[in-house]
Amino acid sequence: MKASIPMLREMKRDGRPIVMITAYDHPSGRIVDAAGVDLVLVGDSAANVVLGHGSTVPATMDEMTMLTAAVSRAVTNALVIGDLPFMSYQVSDAEAVTNAGRLIKEGGADVVKLEGAGPSLDRVRALVSAGIGVMGHIGLTPQTATSLGGHKAQGRQAGAATRLFHDAVALEQAGCFAIVLEAVPAPVAAVITDRLAIPTIGIGSGPGTSGQVLVLHDLLGISDGSPQPRFVKHYAEIGEAMANAVAAYAQDVRTHGYPAAEHTYSIPDDELEAFEAAIGAGSIEDNTLADW
Ligand code: KIV
Repeated sequence: MKASIPMLREMKRDGRPIVMITAYDHPSGRIVDAAGVDLVLVGDSAANVVLGHGSTVPATMDEMTMLTAAVSRAVTNALVIGDLPFMSYQVSDAEAVTNAGRLIKEGGADVVKLEGAGPSLDRVRALVSAGIGVMGHIGLTPQTATSLGGHKAQGRQAGAATRLFHDAVALEQAGCFAIVLEAVPAPVAAVITDRLAIPTIGIGSGPGTSGQVLVLHDLLGISDGSPQPRFVKHYAEIGEAMANAVAAYAQDVRTHGYPAAEHTYSIPDDELEAFEAAIGAGSIEDNTLADW
């Protein structure tokens, strides 16, 4: 059954944890959907994770639309969330609606996500008025990590925690159907979750949120070797398995172990003989280009 916004509210009400994960391409979309997750985020973390940038800031609308389309063509059950990249919604309500509309119409996303509260509240209202479901994202917001002093936990002082609480309430009032809480102290995230009607999805925010999200490549152990945040848990070492598989292939090619007979196509003997007769005796070097 296709996941829906009312279903997420029910899950929160019933205390059933919501499972969200990122995906950036068609095979990953198919695999995470088959695994039964509730929400698939085509996150702008794609900029770091699959496009090789140092932050999420360079992600463009064209890139996010293409990646979202690849994932949404594979996902049939989970709700697909298209992530609005930096500067695709900050300038005006009109640009936010146009760009969110692209993620939905061209990218096939069901809903969109944007970061921040404050100035983003008007954007949320504009998108919701246009009939677009919006997930909020507060705490550590990677698009503005520079202003936050880097990739570090947010809301660790009473004042900052209180601001996060008010931001969450304002996002709910503006019409968000859920909010990501990133790198927020667990007790603060739990209180915010209790005080909202809409679900919260935590990343590095403890067990008291309505659900959890992780970056697919982090949990699979496909990382570039840079230190990972403390909240990342590896459920597999697929990066190592991939490297071993490619090394085994390279070794096979170099030692003539691949391809074997079962990997090749045959030709009937008489056809082969006719072919050899047609091209004549001698090596290829004996033939001039004109003969071809
Ligand atoms: O872009 C992303 O992957 C995200 C998640 C970390 C929530 O925003």
